[in-house]
Amino acid sequence: MNPAGRDATFIEQAYWIVLNRPPSALELDDQRRNHLNSDQVTLSRGLLQSTEFRRLRTAWKNRQDTHTDPAALEQALQRLGTNEFFVERVYESLLARKADEGGKQHYMTVLAGGERRTNVARAMALSDEFAVRWTAVPYDTQLCELANPAKWDNPEWMDLLRSLGLSDDRFSMHRKPYELTQFIYGCQRLGALTEQADVVSIGAGHEIVLYWLANRVNRVVATDLYEGYWTERRGREGDPSVLARPDDFAPFPYRQDRLTFMKMDGRQLDFPDNSFDIAYSLSSIEHFGGMEGASQTIREMTRVLKPGGILALATEYALAGPRGEDVFQPEEVHALAQQPGLELVEPIDERVWNRYQTAPVDVVHDPYRTPHMVVHVFDTVFTSVMLFLRKLPSA
Ligand SMILES: C[S@@+](CC[C@H](N)C(=O)[O-])C[C@H]1O[C@@H](n2cnc3c(N)ncnc32)[C@H](O)[C@@H]1O
Repeated sequence: MNPAGRDATFIEQAYWIVLNRPPSALELDDQRRNHLNSDQVTLSRGLLQSTEFRRLRTAWKNRQDTHTDPAALEQALQRLGTNEFFVERVYESLLARKADEGGKQHYMTVLAGGERRTNVARAMALSDEFAVRWTAVPYDTQLCELANPAKWDNPEWMDLLRSLGLSDDRFSMHRKPYELTQFIYGCQRLGALTEQADVVSIGAGHEIVLYWLANRVNRVVATDLYEGYWTERRGREGDPSVLARPDDFAPFPYRQDRLTFMKMDGRQLDFPDNSFDIAYSLSSIEHFGGMEGASQTIREMTRVLKPGGILALATEYALAGPRGEDVFQPEEVHALAQQPGLELVEPIDERVWNRYQTAPVDVVHDPYRTPHMVVHVFDTVFTSVMLFLRKLPSA
């Protein structure tokens, strides 16, 4: 027994209660090395923030059984000790506190009445107190910012990332999933993602977020040149075959009647004024002909937006080094954000990369390396910037 009383049995109990399974030999060894001090109730490093627990809890919320052999699980929980001991351990493992008398008596009565221990532990994991504890962990919520690793600590943001079918492995951290997720996160937080919303994407290619939106809004129109350089390039983002066969590019089932692909120059949009609730463009406007092309595109996006509508942009932002092709300098990003008829929903956090240490990825010679948040092309170092602007009512 170590000084904190955190021996193998203690650790195994926590695993059974939180993850409904015993720890592996590696996990047990790891937990034993890293026990906390005796005055700290929580012990089980990482269990509650593990993807495994998050998935289990979501399934429990949806009333799905998660164990292949529920009877064997119940037997394992029964073996942990008396009802009183079990309830105390559930409180410690999930709520990180000693059981209060009222709570303890309640659950002991429930168990004496024949309720399964499995259900008592799950009820605690789904309790309001647990939910408050879960959301009490501080996390970053900014919308207008440089690509930000802190978003991988934001549970709401991570749920959106997963909903796009993207990897939640921090080692896969990449600007592209950042842009897609930050875009829908921002629209959601701004209250713009509604069943009634009409959305247009500029330089859309066949990005997965189009299909995601089709399942959630009234209408999505994807526009792109669908010709030239981008039809041949590695990712074939501008592949024109999506115009005829959108289903071939769908990452998951989607509401086909909600999504339309149109061949259109982003600098000259063929839509009436005030048509859309959201107009957005991800990793595209930097390729539309420098500041002039990008400014013209933003003017067009503003024109087709309804007053109060949201204009969301992800583009390239220079952090250091000489001027690079298709990468905007900070003052150019400011100029793009100051187009008439628009206002930023909040100031841009441009200091993100003052807070982190990273080795920029060489996109010319080593393009697949992750984390892939800051990159360089020769000596130009850059990242993504995400902007959310609102069309002024008077515009
Ligand atoms: C880097 S890709 C990004 C595609 C997509 N937004 C994504 O994130 O996968 C840039 C896209 O901009 C499109 N594009 C380039 N110039 C354009 C223009 N003037 N108008 C509309 N689309 C354009 C290209 O065809 C290409 O699909």
